[in-house]
Amino acid sequence: MRVLVTGGAGYIGSHTCKALALAGHKPIVFDNLSTGHRRSVKWGDFIHGDITDPTAMGEALAASRADAVIHFAASAYVGESMRLPRHYYRNNVVGTLSLLDAMAARGMRRLIFSSSCATYGVPETLPINEMARQAPINPYGDSKLVCESMARAAATADGLSCIALRYFNACGADPEGEIGEDHDPETHVIPLILRSAAGGPAFTIFGTDYPTPDGTCIRDYLHVSDLADAHVRALDHLSEYAGFEALNLGTGHGHSVREIVHVVEQRLGRPLDLRQAERRPGDPPELVADARRAAATFGWTPRYSNLSTIIDTAWSWMNAQVTS
Ligand code: UFG
Repeated sequence: MRVLVTGGAGYIGSHTCKALALAGHKPIVFDNLSTGHRRSVKWGDFIHGDITDPTAMGEALAASRADAVIHFAASAYVGESMRLPRHYYRNNVVGTLSLLDAMAARGMRRLIFSSSCATYGVPETLPINEMARQAPINPYGDSKLVCESMARAAATADGLSCIALRYFNACGADPEGEIGEDHDPETHVIPLILRSAAGGPAFTIFGTDYPTPDGTCIRDYLHVSDLADAHVRALDHLSEYAGFEALNLGTGHGHSVREIVHVVEQRLGRPLDLRQAERRPGDPPELVADARRAAATFGWTPRYSNLSTIIDTAWSWMNAQVTS
C-alpha cells in the first residue's frame, strides 16, 4: 500500500516508516519539520507541509496517491499543553479535522490515528482497558480524545475506517541504530536519565510522594519498534475492517521512575546524580495498559519492550549522536 504518514519525520513516525518499508509498503511523509527531522525520512518521499493548512493537506493527499493515512503529526508534550492549551487544540484538533476533510473530499477511507493513554486521565482501575472511562487531565490528552470523537463520528457518517492506537510510553531506539529519539527540548524520562548518566545535568525525579510502592510515577514503557510493528499490523487489519476501533498499545507491565534509575545505575556500575522535585502538573500516578485487545485483533506481541533492551538501544543511539 501507498501510505501517507503525517508526522513521519518524528520519533514514532520515522520508526513506523521503516517498519512499513520493510513490510513492502510505500510510506510518503508529510511533515512541517517543527519537531521532526528531515534526516529521519529515509524510507520514502517527503512532502513539506502543515496539517492545519487545508490546501497543503489536500494537495499532499492527492500527490501521494495514498491508499491509507497514518496520522502522527501532533504536539505531544503534556507539560507544554498545560501552558499552551490553544496551541494544542489548534495543532491536534484543527489539524486532524483538516485531514478528515481532505480524506472525505477524496473518498479516502483508511486511517490509523495516533492516540494516547493520556485520554484516560487518572484511571479508576488498573490495568486500563479500552472500555475505561476517558477523562483526560491535561489539554494534550483532551485534544487526542476530541480527535477520537471526530474520527468515530466520521466513521458513522462518512464510512471512514479508523483504528485509533492509544500509546502508553514510547521509548528506546531502532535496534539497528538508524533512527532514535531526538526531541528538542527533551522532556522524556529515559533520554534524560541517560544524558545524566553520560555526564549531563543531574536527573530530577518529579514527585516522590505518589501512592505507588516507591513513591514515584509508574508508566508502561513500550519500545518504539514494537509500536511501529503494531501500526503495520493495524494497517493490514484495516483492509478488512469498517468503522472505528480503539486499541491500547502497551506491555501490561508498569515501571516506576526509580526502577528505571536503578536499571541504569546497575548497567553503569555507579550511582546517578539525582535530585527530587515537586510533582509535574498533569502527571497521573500510574498508567499501565491492558493490551490484550491489540494482541487478539492483529496478533501483536511486544518483542523489544523489556527495560534492558529499551535502555541499551536508547543508550547506543544517544552515544552514536554524540560521536557522529
Ligand atoms: N519524569 C521525571 N523526571 C523527568 C522527566 C520525567 O521524574 O525529568 C517522570 C514523569 O513525571 C513521569 C515519568 O517520568 O512520571 C514519565 O514521564 P515522560 O515525560 O517520559 O512521559 P509521560 O508519561 O509524561 O508522557 C508520555 C508521552 C505522552 C503521553 C503521556 C501519557 O510522552 O505523549 O505519556 O501520560 F501523553
